[in-house]
Amino acid sequence: MSKSNLKQAVFPVAGLGSRFLPVTKSIPKEMLPIIDKPLIQFAVEEAIEAGIEEIIFVTSHTKKAIEDYFSMNYELEHRLKDAGKSEVVEIIHPKYLDEIKFSFIRQSEPNGLGHAILQAKHIITDDFFGIILADDLILSEPGCLKQLLEIHEKTQSSVLGVFSASENQVSNYGVISSKNIDGVEKVDGIVEKPKPADAPSNLAVFGRYILSKNIFLNIEQTKPGLNNEIQLTDAIQDLILNEDVFALEFEGRRFDCGSKEGYISAIIDRASSIDKFKSIIEK
Ligand code: G1P
Repeated sequence: MSKSNLKQAVFPVAGLGSRFLPVTKSIPKEMLPIIDKPLIQFAVEEAIEAGIEEIIFVTSHTKKAIEDYFSMNYELEHRLKDAGKSEVVEIIHPKYLDEIKFSFIRQSEPNGLGHAILQAKHIITDDFFGIILADDLILSEPGCLKQLLEIHEKTQSSVLGVFSASENQVSNYGVISSKNIDGVEKVDGIVEKPKPADAPSNLAVFGRYILSKNIFLNIEQTKPGLNNEIQLTDAIQDLILNEDVFALEFEGRRFDCGSKEGYISAIIDRASSIDKFKSIIEK
């Protein structure tokens, strides 16, 4: 595991997953499988690749499956061992389960992304921490958080992952305005889900952030914004007034698995890289 100066990452997973009902009535949307591996595992492994040592899930009472998934299942492991299937044990109990610290905090009520992140305030010890929204699946080498980390190491500042959105996508995201300074985009404004005509650019923030822990002070001051929720975007707009914030257009394939189209595309993409499924895709 690589040593990095970014050790903690917050995973807000308390959302209701209403776009995927009925399955999300009893299964967290983060547990939806991309063939046989849940979305949350891709996100956790991306964080570990960037050197994260503590993952903090901001969760709700309906998300117990996530807690179970990152714990040991004694009965299953013993049965598999007795049956001589140690290679399957390695799949269900990767080494990092013993090396990484998993913390769980309950968000009492869903009240926006900013409010979810604020729940982790008392656990964050370092000056900067990562945020991963697991329904944004990013397949890239190096992983997306690691790409953001490179910019953070250069600038010692907050970094937002962004992508070039089409005109009809901008109203689903936080959208930045920025200036290119020595090859890095320095953010000078950010708005939550603007109408296409009001969007300051086409650079939209997706589910990867490295933020200064001063963001907690900004979130505490943030009044309810869009949809009457405490928006992380509004707190970042305040952070920019006091600190540098940069943006990185990541390199890789991104699937917005919060939408059915994105989810299906992710499954097809993964299947097409596995020999035995290729012929099914090509039919
Ligand atoms: C949230 C943020 C938004 C960001 C998006 C990325 O929106 O509020 O700024 O662009 O995540 O996925 P949500 O998708 O939760 O509506």
